[in-house]
Amino acid sequence: MTKENRDAADPLPGISKWKNEVALVTGASSGIGWGIALALGRAGMKVAVTGRRKEQLEKLLAVLNDYEGEGLAIPADFSREEDIVQVFERIRSEWGGVRVLINNAGLGYQEDLAQGSAESWREMLNVNVLALTLCMQEAIKDMEPAGAGQIINISSVAGHRVPLGKQFGMYSATKHAVKALTEAMWGELAAKGSPIKIATISPGLVETEWHAKAFADEARAQQRFAEIQSLQPEDIADVVCFLLSTPGHVQINEITLRPIGQKD
Ligand SMILES: NC(=O)c1ccc[n+]([C@@H]2O[C@H](COP(=O)([O-])OP(=O)(O)OC[C@H]3O[C@@H](n4cnc5c(N)ncnc54)[C@H](OP(=O)(O)O)[C@@H]3O)[C@@H](O)[C@H]2O)c1
Repeated sequence: MTKENRDAADPLPGISKWKNEVALVTGASSGIGWGIALALGRAGMKVAVTGRRKEQLEKLLAVLNDYEGEGLAIPADFSREEDIVQVFERIRSEWGGVRVLINNAGLGYQEDLAQGSAESWREMLNVNVLALTLCMQEAIKDMEPAGAGQIINISSVAGHRVPLGKQFGMYSATKHAVKALTEAMWGELAAKGSPIKIATISPGLVETEWHAKAFADEARAQQRFAEIQSLQPEDIADVVCFLLSTPGHVQINEITLRPIGQKD
């Protein structure tokens, strides 16, 4: 394809083609989701943000407003299907529907499978797997009639191999499920000739609250961050912006990134 033909096929190959379009970032009340929401707001997108902590979402909206970004905070508990549906209904009624879905909400508990509880497994499966799938289903309802969309599922290096001896068996299983579900959804979309793109981003160590929650120990999390220079939420946001800036005919399916020095 010549450069002229490429430009004709996709007159706005950069992220600017998403200006004023609607993104939903799940799990935006801290960490990676917070960083992605700010980056998309700076890129001129309308950004709906969700998570359980209402006060954190309100703080995020205040920062977004400082960048003259447009935001919508919708508190929701993603272990409840009705909360998820209500998030999409609210976005449809305020802004007409979602064009970009960042499926980021997630958690991990550090437990041996031999001793772990069904309660923590259920929470991980509900949020990391079922909520992510329901969000894809709802988002596609909006993207299909619009004839455009990008889904980005946040997986993990633990979604590609099991971190042995680290007591993250069930977490790793949920992230392997994200990989399988993303590929299955890609297959369904491709079979229909859909222009909707879908990708996973699989980060290694990112400095967020995730680790203190997973270990139930803030000091251990800080020790981990002191060992190597961890990725920051902004590094993941850069990858999201890169995916959104690719031309319409280019579909990147998976990006894995680790900090230099990570050995697993
Ligand atoms: N940090 C890492 O090293 C790393 C590496 C690879 C992958 N990841 C993945 O990256 C994603 C973001 O994690 P993070 O590192 O940014 O951790 P984080 O700061 O703990 O953020 C997790 C987000 O998920 C939301 N969430 C958790 N349970 C929820 C529920 N029941 N309902 C609604 N929202 C819920 C949290 O919001 P509320 O608490 O307000 O509900 C929060 O906004 C996760 O999927 C994680 O597995 C992280």
